[in-house]
Amino acid sequence: MLRLDTRFLPDFPEALKAHAPLLEEARRSLLAKRKNPGSMLGFLDLPEDTETLREIRRYREANPWVEDFVLIGIGGSALGPKALEAAFNESGVRFHYVDHVEPEPVIKLLRALDPGKTLVNVVSKSGTTAETLAGFLVFLDWLKGALGEAWRRHLVVTTDPETGPLRALAAREGLRAFAIPKEVGGRFSVLSPVGLLPLAFAGADLEALLMGARKANETALAPVEESLPLKTALLLHLHRHLPVHAFMVYSERLKHLPEWFVQLHDESLGKRDKEGNRVGTTALPALGPQDQHAQVQLFREGPLDKLLAMVVPESPLEDLRIPPAEGLEAASYLFGKTLFGLLRAEAEATYQALAEAGQRVYALYLSQVSPYAVGWLLQHLMWQTAFLGELWGVNAFDQPGVELGKRLTRAFLEAWK
Ligand code: PA5
Repeated sequence: MLRLDTRFLPDFPEALKAHAPLLEEARRSLLAKRKNPGSMLGFLDLPEDTETLREIRRYREANPWVEDFVLIGIGGSALGPKALEAAFNESGVRFHYVDHVEPEPVIKLLRALDPGKTLVNVVSKSGTTAETLAGFLVFLDWLKGALGEAWRRHLVVTTDPETGPLRALAAREGLRAFAIPKEVGGRFSVLSPVGLLPLAFAGADLEALLMGARKANETALAPVEESLPLKTALLLHLHRHLPVHAFMVYSERLKHLPEWFVQLHDESLGKRDKEGNRVGTTALPALGPQDQHAQVQLFREGPLDKLLAMVVPESPLEDLRIPPAEGLEAASYLFGKTLFGLLRAEAEATYQALAEAGQRVYALYLSQVSPYAVGWLLQHLMWQTAFLGELWGVNAFDQPGVELGKRLTRAFLEAWK
């Protein structure tokens, strides 16, 4: 379950009433595009795709030998699985992410892996991303060199259903390939095979994850005053004059979630609107309680230039009591309390301290760090981003600003032969 708390923003209920027609219009205009080819709203349908889920399950069951899972992908093709696997890996399969091109970690990984027990998953919607192709070529060569004809069984492709070099390679070589639906963009793809395939190997409860996402779909379509994603989209809209949107998560298991959110928010919404104005706010990742000993100083006493969202679990799956110890009376206030109790107290203290300092802050409470609640949260944040695209007059699903960098990289590589 996901719950919004705006107790330190007393003006919000009135603002919600006043902006209800604007929100209705944003939702109407978004949903009107749903069936248009190229609207990239396919992420809304992913939670219903039980056929793909079954296929993924069958593939996982057919490959019980996997001990190491190497995911080669970048941006939307890596950040979602990385965030979820860190939270829900129950299987003992070791995961490795080649989401960079720094040679030393790649060499170290190749030296450590046993190719006979390794499954390589290359993930790229376009099949043309330089970093992913470079990593893939290195691992392909490694698999072929070590395993001969058996290399095919150790490679699985996740890409566009029809086009792109990886789809063509999979067809030519008879490789197992899963599809990222045409209407699903990279940073909205975590609930497609991009996330589900690695999570199946991690032993995560995929049904619960998708059930949570379906709940987010339901709340997105609810009347405005009950629609969680419309409400948080409005919070961000009302605070769009504040340049920074800090996203602070109080969960070690969800420590990579802020990175996923930063990409979703910044790449979707930081661009030129229809009039050519530069719009967007900068999402800032933060982790509790670690950042209480770092960024919270800035959040409390630095510029009032932020809207802060705190994501806080309400109960643990398991807890641990803090035992007393003689001779350490300074810590007696901790004796007998639980670790989760401390985490909650810290989150609440930070929340109140930030509000008291004049920062604009709200909380999203997760019932637990469970696949259901996290599936709900992820789909909620994707809806929020899509609604903000409508409110800010930008196409949340393209990324023209990253193209020049790609073109220049290629030009440099060609020039530096
Ligand atoms: O959100 C996006 O579309 C991007 O971040 C992509 O996920 C990223 O550029 C990787 O692209 P691809 O999956 O085509 O390799």
